[in-house]
Amino acid sequence: MKPISLTQFLIEQQREGRINADLRLLIEVVARACKRISIAVGKGALGGVLGSAGTENVQGETQKKLDVLSNEILLEANAWGGHLAALASEEMDDPHPIPDRYPKGEYLLVFDPLDGSSNIDVNISVGTIFSVLRCPEGVKNPDEKAFLQPGTQQVAAGYAVYGSSTVLVLTLGDGVHQFTLDREQGNFPLTHSRLRIPEDTSEFAINMSNMRHWEPPMRRYIEELLAGKTGPRGRDFNMRWVASMVADVHRILTRGGIFIYPRDLKDPGKPGKLRLMYEANPMAFIVEQAGGAATTGRERILDITPAQLHQRVPVFLGSKNEVERVTGYHLAADRAGEPA
Ligand code: AHG
Ligand code: MN
Ligand code: MN
Repeated sequence: MKPISLTQFLIEQQREGRINADLRLLIEVVARACKRISIAVGKGALGGVLGSAGTENVQGETQKKLDVLSNEILLEANAWGGHLAALASEEMDDPHPIPDRYPKGEYLLVFDPLDGSSNIDVNISVGTIFSVLRCPEGVKNPDEKAFLQPGTQQVAAGYAVYGSSTVLVLTLGDGVHQFTLDREQGNFPLTHSRLRIPEDTSEFAINMSNMRHWEPPMRRYIEELLAGKTGPRGRDFNMRWVASMVADVHRILTRGGIFIYPRDLKDPGKPGKLRLMYEANPMAFIVEQAGGAATTGRERILDITPAQLHQRVPVFLGSKNEVERVTGYHLAADRAGEPA
């Protein structure tokens, strides 16, 4: 049987009362923007899109040409449809208002336009991550404060991976669905419904080079995994690290695993590397909707009330039993009053 397209899927969701016409349009527009980004990524050196843009974002990171281009594509695509009240992005210091000449809608869109920037120039998968919130009632010109809502308030979240194929993974709060870009037809047929992350896993994803900076419970957990069959876990574990969160999370959604970007003490002022609002929250929503878990090592990511748009958090997500175990190690160490 021919798979249904993203458009058909969204229309069915609207008919079932799960989304309204504006949210349907919003997802369609984001998918269209992802298609354009996918084309730009796919052109590589031929499109003149590789390398640095020579500018810095608010986090002090050097922007790549594709970071800037992807941000522009998402901004331009979302400005005029009337479905948004405002947007915010990793690549912009402050929220971006919808120009006055266009009607405004009830949603806020937050995104990481290009995740895994360090992999652009080496032809490894990168992606886009997005999260959708409602604009608080009565707010006409949403500022940063309007965005500072816990992840539990997300009405939709998703990501695209620009890999050997381009996939779009989406949750509207009722399971996780995967669409694959048909490059000839230009649409996104539904290729997997209701993805489930196995509760157990023998695969972990972490940047091991930071090990000396980790907190003791984190070191304990990884040392136990590395000890394999003869250690306390009694079995061997395998490691994978793409260094594009989208690609690592997509592997976990496909076959299980645990992804960790822990707090490290290299820079004590920095509570983690990944950003809460456009990396951790959308991924946590997707992972929970697929039966997995997502914590900071101490608390559920989706319960955090953000203090800032570009706030960073430690991230532990994926197969439930592993996330619960390592979270338990942190909480036990805190209870015992162990120094970090
Ligand atoms: P971004 O490219 O949007 O700044 O995000 C990069 C993130 C994430 O994708 C990845 O998991 C992590 O940084 C990679 O970090 P390492 O450089 O420590 O491998
Ligand atoms: Mn990112
Ligand atoms: Mn990015």
